[in-house]
Amino acid sequence: MRTIVVTGGATGIGRATAERFRADGDNVVITGRRTDVLEKAAAELGARAVVCDATDPAQVERLLDALPEQVDVLVNNAGGNTDFGRPDGGLTQLKANWLANLEANLINAVLTTTALAPRLTTAVVHLGSIAGARGPGSYGAAKAGLALWNADVAAELGPRGITSNVVAPGFTAGTEFFQGRLTDERRETLLQATLTKRAGEVGDIAGTIHFLASPAARHLTGQVLHVNGGALTGR
Ligand SMILES: NC(=O)c1ccc[n+]([C@@H]2O[C@H](COP(=O)([O-])OP(=O)(O)OC[C@H]3O[C@@H](n4cnc5c(N)ncnc54)[C@H](OP(=O)(O)O)[C@@H]3O)[C@@H](O)[C@H]2O)c1
Repeated sequence: MRTIVVTGGATGIGRATAERFRADGDNVVITGRRTDVLEKAAAELGARAVVCDATDPAQVERLLDALPEQVDVLVNNAGGNTDFGRPDGGLTQLKANWLANLEANLINAVLTTTALAPRLTTAVVHLGSIAGARGPGSYGAAKAGLALWNADVAAELGPRGITSNVVAPGFTAGTEFFQGRLTDERRETLLQATLTKRAGEVGDIAGTIHFLASPAARHLTGQVLHVNGGALTGR
């Protein structure tokens, strides 16, 4: 039985990932900021809940106290586009908006990975985004930064036999990502942009994360795996 830590594991992609590892009988720890949402999900999944804001160094340090000495897989899933609902404004507001997205999508992963690194045995998977390859704005820049920094993590952990990769979803349904702001028209545009003509499902992403943490992927590291139905094609 392995120990798997999934940040932001109460909803959406994180929850599906926790569920996938639980199906193997793994010991799964999920984190998040909303105690009620987190504890309900943990009870349903048979996982353990630890309230932790991944952008807060003190909370990430406290997370260590709640974890065993060995953590096999870390999934840095917590994140999202903090621009939704934030006010526009002058340069001061612009700076605050950019820092919010960098904290929510890059700094959080840096803090959690650095804290857990000495305890890891197998794999780190970070949730990037199709936005990291083509925008928009500070969210895309943060996810692009995450993808670049992943190469450092892979180099640092590689000699210990630990892999580090980014899974970069395209539009994925069944999450709180859009916070109720996704119009039918925008949804249709995103769907039509795929080659498969369907929205991604959380299980599509969880399956890729699960594979990356499996023995079959032990020589796969330092990569960005796009899971988007061909909305962005590789070459
Ligand atoms: N859905 C998509 O179409 C899509 C596409 C590309 C990439 N992604 C990426 O996929 C990842 C998962 O998102 P999702 O789509 O599954 O959306 P989601 O349902 O909103 O899940 C995000 C989860 O992360 C938690 N979280 C957010 N900030 C946190 C923090 N600072 N510390 C701890 N937990 C935090 C949230 O819970 P609390 O609010 O309770 O903390 C929530 O449970 C994100 O990194 C997102 O950027 C999603």
